[in-house]
Amino acid sequence: MPVQPSADRRAADLIIFGGTGDLSMRKLLPALYHCDRDGRLAEDTRIIAMSRGGLDDADFRGKVDAEVRPALGAAEGWDRFVNRLHHVSVDVGGPAEPAGWDALTSLLAGREDHDRVFYLASPPMTFGPFCHSAYEAGLVTPQSRVVLEKPLGRDLASAQAINDEVGAIFDESQIFRIDHYLGKETVQNLLVLRFANVFLEPIWNSLWIDHVQITAAETVGTPGRRGYYDHAGALRDMVQNHLLQLLCLVAMEPPSKNDREAVRDEKVKVLESLRPIVGSEVDRFTVRGQYTSGRLGDETVPGYLDEPDSTRPTAASHRVETFAAVRAEVKNWRWAGVPFYLRTGKRLPARQSEIVVQFKDVPHAIFAGATPNRLVLRLQPDEGIHLRLMAKEPGAGEVTLRPVPLSLSFADTFTTRVPDAYERLLTDVLAGNPTLFMRRDEVEAAWRWIDPIIAHWEGSGMSPEPYPAGTAGPAGAHELLARSDRTWHEEAFE
Ligand code: BG6
Repeated sequence: MPVQPSADRRAADLIIFGGTGDLSMRKLLPALYHCDRDGRLAEDTRIIAMSRGGLDDADFRGKVDAEVRPALGAAEGWDRFVNRLHHVSVDVGGPAEPAGWDALTSLLAGREDHDRVFYLASPPMTFGPFCHSAYEAGLVTPQSRVVLEKPLGRDLASAQAINDEVGAIFDESQIFRIDHYLGKETVQNLLVLRFANVFLEPIWNSLWIDHVQITAAETVGTPGRRGYYDHAGALRDMVQNHLLQLLCLVAMEPPSKNDREAVRDEKVKVLESLRPIVGSEVDRFTVRGQYTSGRLGDETVPGYLDEPDSTRPTAASHRVETFAAVRAEVKNWRWAGVPFYLRTGKRLPARQSEIVVQFKDVPHAIFAGATPNRLVLRLQPDEGIHLRLMAKEPGAGEVTLRPVPLSLSFADTFTTRVPDAYERLLTDVLAGNPTLFMRRDEVEAAWRWIDPIIAHWEGSGMSPEPYPAGTAGPAGAHELLARSDRTWHEEAFE
């Protein structure tokens, strides 16, 4: 049975701009349904989708019923959820735009004391104009918050411009910049693992750790996304946000409390300690690739340039990277000399996101065949934590060593459903808790580090290295580690 709506949550109007788009239909609405089913929405909370769609409430409810419900199984409490849904048509930039804002104003009238959340599931260039229009329409109340989806700009200057525009209407405390990786269970568990256990902290430094690998590998390509992806690429789409956020959580100092500013202060310090990669160093410390046609499982899939799309490839399509790897360094006392290898790519052999902490060799080997300990935090799929230890194979005679895993599988250990990252983050937005959201200085510090890499790539006029779909990326990615006698952790790819 669905749980009854929470009596102690504040009722809110959640307005999703881009409410019938891919993100909303695939992620936000299913997550909100689960929040509702689990009693995490107040009785009176409403979800208002804004789109160009020309739909009324009944059309929108029908669309959600047809497109969202089938993936939700029994969907207990579905009718209650559907009754929360509304739709307002707004044709931004078109002659009918004022009518759209009038319709939203009437829907919100009399609810000025409710929390109001504007969720901008739309391209970043719409953020400033949306906030301005909402303000002009008199809809921004002291209880309002705004959620900005990534990417926040495409470089430091555009991110600053967006932050300025949004900041002219909303106070920083009202701005929630979302990075859905921070809502993933294992990512939050990383903080618990590090700061609620005593054994790791003394060895969590350059004395004991050889290097760290952070991988977000995907099997999906980019069909139908050329318009966005040609101008983004893997570095902007994944590294600037998701991978750097993971790096921060691995590298940050223990915050004095689990509180919104304390955690984010520590993350900013990590971003500001990243050693800049500039000029010709970019060629040494970064790799970019683009997938060509190849075999993925039983299928032959097209290369990036041949992906089905409504637009034809342009010069930008030829230059954009669908794979990026970077050797980063955090210049501080704890991490001096420890490389952080980041890598992400589309059309790799498996969907696998993980953080691998590779420890050093034992200082003095008395057994032959020992390999260093390795801690793997698996983000997806099969969330879990695995520590590779050396053990003796049973038997008399010579001592033979074998690496064995000490494993925690979340699915086996906890019987509760692992919620989608958006459930956690939407719950936090509705509760007004920004700890897991990026502050302005974090986003800007990340761009400050990324910009020179992109500038060098763009200035070099070189194309990304091709790699066939279904392989572990271009040869350069392997060389990046091989230069220092290291290899990527490929267990899930084998
Ligand atoms: C998004 C990127 O932020 O993250 C996508 O824009 C990518 O390109 C997605 O596919 C990956 O998210 P997840 O949760 O599936 O790892």
